[in-house]
Amino acid sequence: MYMQTFMLLAVEQGLATCPQEIWSVWPRTVARFIGMPDELMLFAGMSLGYEDTQSPLNSFRTTRAPLDSFASFLGFN
Ligand SMILES: Cc1cc2nc3c(=O)[nH]c(=O)nc-3n(C[C@H](O)[C@H](O)[C@H](O)COP(=O)(O)O)c2cc1C
Repeated sequence: MYMQTFMLLAVEQGLATCPQEIWSVWPRTVARFIGMPDELMLFAGMSLGYEDTQSPLNSFRTTRAPLDSFASFLGFN
């Protein structure tokens, strides 16, 4: 939830993000590279920057399940 809030605030600032859990598979390597103190635990990484709108990779859009396939709103009639 924290990451989601961070990502929404980034968008508001004109920045793009990509959360990446995979970094936590190599915690010691990442810690060494960024000089992370021993008392911290690597949970996830997140790319943060300006989107390259010209890159074909960034035009890829994944599909979304329709809202009513996973949620029901009761008492809002
Ligand atoms: C907390 C979190 C961690 C993620 N970690 C990875 C990851 O390590 N590798 C990866 O390919 N996608 C990861 N993803 C998924 C991508 O960031 C991204 O959501 C996915 O490419 C689909 O894009 P979409 O959310 O626009 O559909 C992660 C997503 C979240 C929310």
